[in-house]
Amino acid sequence: NQFSLIDRLYNDQILSKEDFICLIEHRTKEDAEYIASLARKEAQKIYGTGVFPRGLIEFTNYCKNDCCYCGIQRSNANVSRYRLTPEQILSACQCGYELGYRSFVLQGGEDPYFNDERMVSIVSLMRKTYPDCAITLSLGERSLESYQALHAAGADRYLLRHETATEEHYQHLHPKEMSLAHRKQCLWNLKEAGFHVGTGFMVGAPGQTAAHLAEDLLFIKELDPKMVGIGPFVPHHDTPFKDEPSGTAELTTFLISILRLMNHHLLLPSTTALGTIDPKGREKGILAGANVVMPNLSPIDVRKDYALYDNKICTGDEAAECVGCLGRRMDSIGYHLEFCRGDYR
Ligand code: SAM
Ligand code: FES
Repeated sequence: NQFSLIDRLYNDQILSKEDFICLIEHRTKEDAEYIASLARKEAQKIYGTGVFPRGLIEFTNYCKNDCCYCGIQRSNANVSRYRLTPEQILSACQCGYELGYRSFVLQGGEDPYFNDERMVSIVSLMRKTYPDCAITLSLGERSLESYQALHAAGADRYLLRHETATEEHYQHLHPKEMSLAHRKQCLWNLKEAGFHVGTGFMVGAPGQTAAHLAEDLLFIKELDPKMVGIGPFVPHHDTPFKDEPSGTAELTTFLISILRLMNHHLLLPSTTALGTIDPKGREKGILAGANVVMPNLSPIDVRKDYALYDNKICTGDEAAECVGCLGRRMDSIGYHLEFCRGDYR
């Protein structure tokens, strides 16, 4: 087993690239159980057994990008495109607020319709209506000035996964018009603009190796974000990666534990993609050291149209109140949903 390498990660909160590769490539079931127990213990020291819910509002599925893995890429002519109005966004927040949420995430494709003027107006309205709530944005790559304006309007946090920190792999996942250098620059700009920043990557993305994952971990150490979102890659039938295999829950949870040991304070979601490939995926993520869940708050009738990958959970009528479902799931493993802003501690 690799307990001594795991102990070193626990003490130093970092490993060399070679050691990360070794840990990932030679991991065993015993290693996974051991690292998860350390990760859980550290998360509980800071956050207890509370799990922060963030209400996710998927407000547009228009996108100008063509990421090879993503179901709402611009080339997919089979997507029925929608945009929520400011009134629909506010009413989703109101539903969420009444259910107890104090943290909202506005996520969408890179939709030029939502220029700075429109976004600033939506964020200002949310800030004014819900002064006690955290507002997180996930709108992709924008200019520093745009990030500054959104932060000034009242947004607190921003999620932008770097996707992969290796240049060749980035090019394999994205068309030439996108670049890793620009993605990274956006992350530094978001920090400069004053956001609490989240980054992350997909586990088991096509072409991904242990060396790529090691680079991802080293980049995350350098960026020092407050949040890291990772979930398995899941294929979508209308994309170039339709025949590629999904990532696994086993590797995803192992990486969640590694990330927890790299920064005990991180806000680490147990993602919907993890719950999609494994019926107990979100529970397993929490038990591996995650401490955030992001239930869907989008209006029911548009949920099926925000299909980033196939078989996404929480898109049917049964998902009217994900918060109830997730509350029961957390209770079943000795955790509970903690309704608050869920700030970094
Ligand atoms: N447009 C914004 C951006 O690019 O950051 C936010 C929306 S984007 C759809 C959110 C995340 O979905 C991406 O960062 C990506 O990691 C994830 N995603 C896209 N397609 C996926 C797939 N097939 N399987 C798993 N995750 C996927
Ligand atoms: Fe959405 Fe279970 S969390 S239905």
